[in-house]
Amino acid sequence: MSKEAKMMDIFSAQLKTVTPSPIHTFSEAVDHVPNILKLTIGEPDFNVPEHIKQAAVAAISSDDSHYSVSAGTLALRQAASQFLKRHYDLNYRATTDILITIGATEALYVVLASILDENDEILIPTPAYPVYAQMTRINGGQPVLIDVSDDDFVLTPEKLKQTIATHHHIKAIIINNPSNPTGITYSETQIKALVSVLKDTNILIISDEIYSELTYNGQHESIARYLPEQTVVINGVSKAYAMTGYRIGVLAGPTLLINEFNKVHSFIIMTPSNPAMAAAKVAFSSQESLVSTAKMKQDYQHRRDYLVKALKQLEFECIVPNGAFYVFAKVPDDFIQDDVAFANDLVDKVQLAVVAGAGFGPGGAGYIRVSYAAAMSKLEEAVARLTCYAGIIRK
Ligand SMILES: Cc1ncc(COP(=O)(O)O)c(C=O)c1O
Repeated sequence: MSKEAKMMDIFSAQLKTVTPSPIHTFSEAVDHVPNILKLTIGEPDFNVPEHIKQAAVAAISSDDSHYSVSAGTLALRQAASQFLKRHYDLNYRATTDILITIGATEALYVVLASILDENDEILIPTPAYPVYAQMTRINGGQPVLIDVSDDDFVLTPEKLKQTIATHHHIKAIIINNPSNPTGITYSETQIKALVSVLKDTNILIISDEIYSELTYNGQHESIARYLPEQTVVINGVSKAYAMTGYRIGVLAGPTLLINEFNKVHSFIIMTPSNPAMAAAKVAFSSQESLVSTAKMKQDYQHRRDYLVKALKQLEFECIVPNGAFYVFAKVPDDFIQDDVAFANDLVDKVQLAVVAGAGFGPGGAGYIRVSYAAAMSKLEEAVARLTCYAGIIRK
């Protein structure tokens, strides 16, 4: 055995349980296919609005190049605090209740790393963003995957109660509202029903609301409004302001919890980047951002309506997603039923890449996730290729 192979022994037992993201693996694997059209990645196709970019440029030009405090600049925490209050009626003090993180991703990591002892359980309604389960494993915990596909992809109080009754090491539940990959949103009634079960427990609610600004019908409802003492809210600028590469997230919660999270946060990242924080402050606080996000949202909604209609015409079943920028569609009965094989066949026959649903956990098999964070012209081309595929199969 080579020395390099022997070195593989150094890795922790928990890392051995972690597998690479099926979304990224597939998306990278099809890159070499000539003429490939990819609707795989959940990343806005818009540029960062000019007024936000200028804030980053100004920060660089004025030598804003030193460490900030690890919680992030007070100016950005204040902007985040006011944003959460104005948009979702959430009350978090900038000085004590908010950490600025490296994207929603670091916020999730900080919470899981702070709370998990070996074999502690994290409840995850699925289909879900694959990072939740893998990050739980990296931190020594056990994901408990709750298949919610039979309930229109919404976790019901009955299912939650049942799961709590049969698991004895639950530390937290991750609720993703609006959801990646299904695009569902939780109504006030649905949230209150979950709150009625969770309030009598000490289970921490990790509420991933990174898509909160991209809710198409009705207002986004945060579970933190109903159970603030037991909830941490994760949000950020990646999706609503098309700032994925700036890497700025927000972790908000009760002061005592935030103090503990800050121990992990400050040791793993020291501080976020100043120019990115300056830009995020403008994203959260300027009037122009309201206009630019409204415009993006209008485009997303237009694309969603187009895609849902076209998929239904091709006999895919799907519920109209009320948030985020994905359609989660059931593969028609006369197509290949194994979603992974179907996704590969789509690439082979018409050079169209979408993500197989099985990668999002139980309840995802038999579905595909199509991202509509892509220009209309790409979506039209995708529909043309799908129609061509249907023609081949149904001839
Ligand atoms: C549900 C969900 N949470 C978190 C993230 C990561 O967000 P960020 O770019 O802010 O780290 C994503 C990105 O796709 C996501 O879909």
